[in-house]
Amino acid sequence: MLNVSALTVRMQQNAERSILDHLSFDVNDGEILAILGPSGAGKTTLLRCLALLHKQTAGRITFNGAPIDTLAPGKVGIVFQGFNLFPHLTVLENLLLAPKCHKKDTSQALNDKAKKLLCQFGLESQIHVYPHSLSGGQKQRVAIARALMMDPPVLLFDEPTSALDPELINEVSDIIKALRQPNRVILVVTHEVRLARHVADQILFMNNGMILDNVTNAVFFNESGDGLSGRAKIFLSNLS
Ligand SMILES: Nc1ncnc2c1ncn2[C@@H]1O[C@H](COP(=O)(O)OP(=O)(O)O)[C@@H](O)[C@H]1O
Ligand SMILES: [Mg+2]
Repeated sequence: MLNVSALTVRMQQNAERSILDHLSFDVNDGEILAILGPSGAGKTTLLRCLALLHKQTAGRITFNGAPIDTLAPGKVGIVFQGFNLFPHLTVLENLLLAPKCHKKDTSQALNDKAKKLLCQFGLESQIHVYPHSLSGGQKQRVAIARALMMDPPVLLFDEPTSALDPELINEVSDIIKALRQPNRVILVVTHEVRLARHVADQILFMNNGMILDNVTNAVFFNESGDGLSGRAKIFLSNLS
């Protein structure tokens, strides 16, 4: 289980405004949490704290009871909004960089694993090409395969559909759902409500660095809006 407790981020130590303000929530093993909310709500900052790319001002993040920063490197996988592939490395080299650096396995075993993942994602003919020659969807699948090389029990997606053709939303939903595993938690930040509805067990709605709603998929998307914050109702009504 992932546990976030009173997570707070201020950009300057004494700044009045918190970017994240005492966020507390859990994600159970095997579950997918979608994080929705307007731009500037703090969604990316939350993912960056979970991935140890940003140090929180206060609060605790644990996974199965252990502080998240004690997990082995790569155990929190993140697929960035712009995918962040290394442009000077081939697809295969992008996958091998982190596990080789952490000496995760023999070169041969890592090569085999990378090729197997790339085949699973339909990228077998792209193994030796550079990222610039890939489509957006292909880049994303490389970024996902790269995160999976480290077998992450915590997997994070930041706006996985924002750089893609809207027609790919269903494909991205299917890919994310297929990554569900009993010992893994998946967090998906998205402004694409259809994606959240398709993939998530639980929905977190954020505004101004705070959690306004933490409810099941069924409650968040119920027709009546019963049980939702006023802000979430406005957010949903602006989409329809
Ligand atoms: N490095 C930074 N320095 C100052 N303010 C920042 C920085 N990163 C993010 N912010 C501010 O924090 C708030 C939340 O940003 P972000 O986490 O990117 O929101 P979201 O992903 O929900 O759009 C925004 O108001 C943004 O301007
Ligand atoms: Mg963001």
